[in-house]
Amino acid sequence: MTTSSAASPTPGRRSRLLHRNLREDPPFAVGGHGVWLVDAHGREVLDGSGGAAVSCLGHQHPRVLEALASQAKRLAYAHTSFFTTEVAEALADDLVGHEPGGLAGAYLVCGGSEAVETALKIARQYFLEIGQPQRTRIIARRQSYHGNTLGALAAGRHDGRREAFAPLLSNAFSHVSPAYAYREQRASESEKDFVARLAAELEAEFARLGPDTVAAFIAEPVVGGTSGCVPAPEGYFPAVRAVCERHGALFILDEVMCGMGRTGTLHAWEREGVVPDIQAIAKGLGGGYAPIGATLVSGKVVQAMRDGSGILRHGHTYMAHPLGCAAALAVQQVIREENLLERVRGLGQLLERRLVERFGNHHHVGDVRGRGLFYGIEIVADRASKAPFDPALKMNARIKRAALERGLACYPGGGTIDGFKGDHVLLAPPYICTANEIEMIVERLGEAVDAAVKDIAH
Ligand SMILES: Cc1ncc(COP(=O)(O)O)c(C=O)c1O
Repeated sequence: MTTSSAASPTPGRRSRLLHRNLREDPPFAVGGHGVWLVDAHGREVLDGSGGAAVSCLGHQHPRVLEALASQAKRLAYAHTSFFTTEVAEALADDLVGHEPGGLAGAYLVCGGSEAVETALKIARQYFLEIGQPQRTRIIARRQSYHGNTLGALAAGRHDGRREAFAPLLSNAFSHVSPAYAYREQRASESEKDFVARLAAELEAEFARLGPDTVAAFIAEPVVGGTSGCVPAPEGYFPAVRAVCERHGALFILDEVMCGMGRTGTLHAWEREGVVPDIQAIAKGLGGGYAPIGATLVSGKVVQAMRDGSGILRHGHTYMAHPLGCAAALAVQQVIREENLLERVRGLGQLLERRLVERFGNHHHVGDVRGRGLFYGIEIVADRASKAPFDPALKMNARIKRAALERGLACYPGGGTIDGFKGDHVLLAPPYICTANEIEMIVERLGEAVDAAVKDIAH
């Protein structure tokens, strides 16, 4: 029978809240400070992944709390079909006032899925505005996640998450191979060959669909939750961007998880030698202090809509919500003023070094990868053959549990290889963490992986 866990302030009460796991309620989080979360027993848990790469400033940052309180006292809500607000204008200026990579407009929403939906709809609208209504197709990649609403779920491709809803998903989307070197690069291939093969596959997909029917290609610069922090090989993004340009399709980057400083630059694309036509951001934008996401749009696309219908055919009740905007503005100011991107790069090097020392020769870790404070380890049954554990063993869930028992919250996932097989653990510590806390994260994760492996051996 489902009852609240012992950690509940009211033990024995059946929760009315529909949790992700309907049989077992999660423990209560009752407080937080810095990189620590506090449960109902007063136990402190080291937040090694900021939830799902969200809490970039950790918990209860005074500057952000102050910004939220002062905005709430001034104006908590005004509907965007009647009014704009100072705080929303200020956030848009902050994000695209300097036109980074030609991005000149910001559409403010409540999270990552909404940001991706907006990106897809703007891409479609752009082609209607410029007289190319036949462009109705979107190409994405396997082993990607773009959100859980139906459009974003259709764009992503993690078959385990999609399976139940497949009949509801649009067939406007098709998928090419991911830039996932550990699993997809052939032994006979150099990195350059691998990139050339992936670009050729994208080219072939354009040809198969009819190049002038494709509206956009969408990808995560560093793949997050599906495969665990997978950066693309050198030259991949310029190569796929060139394919899009050749065929007049838009290039959309989903930086919901890897963006806003997570990989050591504000935008992950800054390291790739490309700029997107449209970009989705969320998690690190507001750092979890309020639900907020944004779709950043290039000047070219904004101008086409302005010169065309002059209307953006989209909208949500809570878009550009003043509290979300206030949180995001404060988070972004803190990142700049406290020089946190430099900190992410420095601590990222330490995190990588420690992970390689701890897991580089581990029999059950096949790969350590990532960038900045965004690192993943891929769990395998056998390092030499790269064979995964039997999915029925739920290795990722075992590691999550073992880590929590040791006072570490990390973000393990399953279906790493094909949506069903494979396990990984994702780490995304807050940018404010210390070197000592990085050491603790790796130490506790090491113990958790060893304990989980030992557990199944019995
Ligand atoms: C790359 C990426 N895109 C989109 C989303 C969806 O964001 P949200 O859960 O805020 O709707 C996520 C969430 O994990 C993500 O990682």
